[in-house]
Amino acid sequence: MKIGIVLGTRPEIIKLSPVIRELEKLKENINYLVIHTNQHYSENLDRIFFKELNLPEPKYNLRIGSAPHGKQTGRMLEGIEKVLIREKPDIVIVQGDTNTTLAGALASSKLGIEVAHVEAGLRSYDRSMPEEINRVLTDHISDYLFVPTEVAEENLRREGITENVFLVGNTIVDATLQNIEIAEERKEEIFEGGMLDIVKDGDYFLLTIHRAENTDNRRRLKSIVEGILKVAEYYDETVIFPLHPRTEGKLKEYHLWDKLKNKNIKILEPVGYFKFLILEKYAKLILTDSGGVQEEACILKVPCITLRKNTERPETLEVGSNILVDVEKGDILEAVDSMLRRNRNWRNPFGDGRSGERIVRILVGGYDLSIEGRTYKNGI
Ligand code: UD1
Ligand code: UDP
Repeated sequence: MKIGIVLGTRPEIIKLSPVIRELEKLKENINYLVIHTNQHYSENLDRIFFKELNLPEPKYNLRIGSAPHGKQTGRMLEGIEKVLIREKPDIVIVQGDTNTTLAGALASSKLGIEVAHVEAGLRSYDRSMPEEINRVLTDHISDYLFVPTEVAEENLRREGITENVFLVGNTIVDATLQNIEIAEERKEEIFEGGMLDIVKDGDYFLLTIHRAENTDNRRRLKSIVEGILKVAEYYDETVIFPLHPRTEGKLKEYHLWDKLKNKNIKILEPVGYFKFLILEKYAKLILTDSGGVQEEACILKVPCITLRKNTERPETLEVGSNILVDVEKGDILEAVDSMLRRNRNWRNPFGDGRSGERIVRILVGGYDLSIEGRTYKNGI
């Protein structure tokens, strides 16, 4: 049996790391290879995660990089197809909702290769998001749909997808649990030269922004900047802001960069996974538009405010770890106040941290879904 894994961006590397780890354990019997589109190529969005997570080098790096959607996805399709024709895997695994995900799934399905979609079934029901288009299309051409929650399973059912849907939890729980302890052990070294005191005191808010719907619209991005400044000033709290290059570019293009030159705003380059996990764990509160960060905040029991109109992670709203604020309409100060007072004893709806193991067992070992007494059935 031969398995191909197509990945290309920061969250895919992180969320597929538990699956790769499981495949590594079986490599005597299972042949697998990683195909990296290099949609993300900056050291701190790409290489750093391979190093920290101790992942094997991709067998192929297609060096696609940045481009408008059509061009980027088209180049990926062409590059992935060539590799698949040469390697002839039986199954290709893709994760999430990026252009890499769609290209990996589409190239495979057109060649008659089975597609396994990890984190299937998420829906924001907002077709203006490129991620929503990628998710819907990928789900509809996938042969194995690994859903993280019952909500995702139900979303698929409503679209008529009921075959080969496996409720396995979200691999982000595996990744978080596998790495938070290592990050803790290395905390002193990771924060050497700065920020250790502020992190230990937990006296800060953590912010990430990168979604197109927020960055590519000047009015929205300005509202976010102003909302954050208001929060930082009102609470007199430091806001630590590891900045995605997309957001940095747009802040400069829209002449909003100088507004962020404020004593309470601490802008960083994107940071590695260990550092980011620690920044999340000790934060008083997280403000974000990231999917993975909403999940990690929930898992690490840190209150989260999602600066969007909708979320494809409604489980976090339901358990009370997260609320949505549309910065152009909602009151961000009120949201911060309410989340800071929230009791952190919510339940983690994303599983038990053994999703990678389940996915690999299902793909290579038939359909034994019972792990340690907890049964995950097809179509619970
Ligand atoms: C992509 C995904 C998004 C995901 C995010 C994770 C799509 C459509 N979007 O968004 O769903 O949440 O990754 O972070 O697939 N850039 C760099 N270095 C890099 C990569 C990008 O500087 O390594 C800059 C370039 O200016 C580029 C911009 O960021 O134009 C956007 O990159 P792109 O890959 O198109 O999308 P992301 O915003 O990263
Ligand atoms: N992350 C990181 N460093 C950062 C910001 C985020 O390691 O500076 C990690 C974070 O822990 C999470 C993932 O990146 O696991 C989320 O990726 P991103 O927000 O880029 O994409 P999304 O999840 O929205 O698709």
